[in-house]
Amino acid sequence: MSRTVYVNGEFVAEENATISIFDRGFLFADAVYEVSSVIDGKLLDNARHLARLHRSLGELKIPAPDTDENILRVQKELIQRNSLTEGAVYLQVTRGAAERDFAFPKNAQPGIVMFTQAKQLRDSPQAKNGIAIATMPDIRWKRRDIKTVGLLAQSMAKQAALDAGAVDAWMVEDGFVTEGSSNNAFIVDKNGTIITRQLGNDILHGITRASILKLTEAENIKLEERAFTVAEALQAQEAFITSASTFVWPVISIDGHSIGDGKPGPVAGRLRELYIDTALQAAE
Ligand code: PDD
Repeated sequence: MSRTVYVNGEFVAEENATISIFDRGFLFADAVYEVSSVIDGKLLDNARHLARLHRSLGELKIPAPDTDENILRVQKELIQRNSLTEGAVYLQVTRGAAERDFAFPKNAQPGIVMFTQAKQLRDSPQAKNGIAIATMPDIRWKRRDIKTVGLLAQSMAKQAALDAGAVDAWMVEDGFVTEGSSNNAFIVDKNGTIITRQLGNDILHGITRASILKLTEAENIKLEERAFTVAEALQAQEAFITSASTFVWPVISIDGHSIGDGKPGPVAGRLRELYIDTALQAAE
């Protein structure tokens, strides 16, 4: 069934949506994006996603294509027009179309596209059964805090993980885990302390990560924001990932080694429940 998508001010059937071959998102990956999850037809953590969108745009000096009020209006209209109850709204802002040149064009008009994706988020088998992770070298650029559409390294890491019989990749740099191919990485040590890499230019500042850290504080769970090694992860009691498209998924093995007892752990399970409950309460 054809979706209605949004392209630069217009709602159109997906097969009629077009952008220029000179669009810099296409030619240079000169574009940023956000993925907001939807449950019961409502957007979760969306204001924070829009705040991060502005940060990404600012770092790349791309002007905002529209006001947040209008963006939210379009997101909601897409949910409604596509009768989306559970899944995500993807939104991408590109610097726009211009003659191909490495320098930023002076007068390009930023473009914005949005579409919905139906997906089962709450009752996912991965949340219930946990996932296998394979570690891969992190071959990305050095501004991973900007959420650009330059995702080929992540795509390669994910595919290599699938080829290795895992579900996702954790990327590793100088012996330390940076993050997952499209999620943030966490471990829980033998003392019950949650460990996740500190923010910086080397990982994406996950919106779900931030919400989970708030919940750990409220739950009085000890937290260390620091880099951890693969060896440390293999010794962990539990491991899990967070993102808008997974919320919290337990990790039950890394490179074929079981984590803890090889079953989804209680900390990940509890945080997942809490996250969904609190995010839904504030959903819009
Ligand atoms: N990915 N790290 C990376 C590299 C990511 O691509 C993502 C999100 C995250 C988690 O961020 P958040 O909690 O804000 O979703 C961390 C999205 C879901 C994607 O590319 O589809």
